[in-house]
Amino acid sequence: MKSKEIRSAFLDFFESKQHKIVPSSPLVNKNDPTLMFTNSGMVQFKDFFLGNKKIVNKRVADTQKCLRVSGKHNDLEDVGMDGTHHTLFEMLGNWSFGDYFKEEAIAWSWELLTDVYKLPKDKLYATVFGGDKAENLDSDEEAKKIWLKYLPESHILYGNKKDNFWEMGEMGPCGPCSEIHIDLRSDDDIAKIPGNELVNKDHPQVVEIWNNVFMQFNRKADKSLEPLPAKHVDTGMGFERLCMTIQGKKYTYDTDVFTPLIQFIEKETNVSYEGSYERSAKQDIAIRVVADHIRAVAFTIADGELPSNNGAGYVVRRILRRAVRYYYSFLNRETPLLYKLVPLLASEFEFVFPELIAQQDFVQKVILEEEKSFLRTLEGGLKRFDSLVPVNGLLVVLKLLNC
Ligand code: GLY
Repeated sequence: MKSKEIRSAFLDFFESKQHKIVPSSPLVNKNDPTLMFTNSGMVQFKDFFLGNKKIVNKRVADTQKCLRVSGKHNDLEDVGMDGTHHTLFEMLGNWSFGDYFKEEAIAWSWELLTDVYKLPKDKLYATVFGGDKAENLDSDEEAKKIWLKYLPESHILYGNKKDNFWEMGEMGPCGPCSEIHIDLRSDDDIAKIPGNELVNKDHPQVVEIWNNVFMQFNRKADKSLEPLPAKHVDTGMGFERLCMTIQGKKYTYDTDVFTPLIQFIEKETNVSYEGSYERSAKQDIAIRVVADHIRAVAFTIADGELPSNNGAGYVVRRILRRAVRYYYSFLNRETPLLYKLVPLLASEFEFVFPELIAQQDFVQKVILEEEKSFLRTLEGGLKRFDSLVPVNGLLVVLKLLNC
């Protein structure tokens, strides 16, 4: 399946289960002082969970643009180094606002993964919340009992608060969650170490693909948990990881979500992408950083946040500069590159996130100006430092520029 078909299959599946398909909300979260960027699908629905807004549709599904580059969920420094983390990613999600709960949520996630996407049942694992004494929370025996209808006991694992109690931030709606993981290793490797020993152990091929959160509490400013007025379901499935799994790839960058961007960068820079994840493979890391960061920067600008020196705008500027730093240092590129990727990105997402194609020229201009200005700063700083410390000039300049 192509990535576009994978996305449509998710939305069609939940539409067939009476969910209303809604658009992604913007990445920039202007109305919530507790959160700078939308970091998960549930953010736009927070007020439904808290009982502050009237629920119109009790079942909703979508694909949401998410950024995890600040605050509680921050993956920025991992991006480019490994093959599964991204600044911007899409989160496929289905929601129940006081309607269905654990039974249906688990049944439908199993049906979609195994009947529609045809993922191998024996490679799937589920985790459930194991309880937490300090919070006075019991283990989630109900979710475990439901999972036993689909999975053998050896494939159901208890997890701690860090992995199996989902919270949107320091405050806000939260609850126990049940994650679905898949073991993508070869049969030989599986025979040596069973998958259940590697779940949640940061193994690059035993990965989480879907999280089913059972929203029951509100975390208050004083850290206490207050029961919500009703129980809800909030699920999040990382789209790029799902594509990697279904397309039989080891890394998200090898899926058709990223290959058009990578091929464009290869052509522009005359550097070929070898797909290495060694720390010394600086060119590959740089290509991944550029392919990833342009998505975050372009969509954030399209959603109304311009690069600046403070707040969310500063985060956008830092991501953009991180990409420039990588192409300047390792791809031998001294002229703007990022802005050239915008039309390709806009056309890839024309029917998913049309806000980019609608503002393509504006977004390109903003990025081009930022790139030019930062490249000038780099060049100017370099010339001065090279006369003083010829070998390490670039490193010193980057350090001083804090990027
Ligand atoms: N809100 C569910 C998740 O992000 O995993």
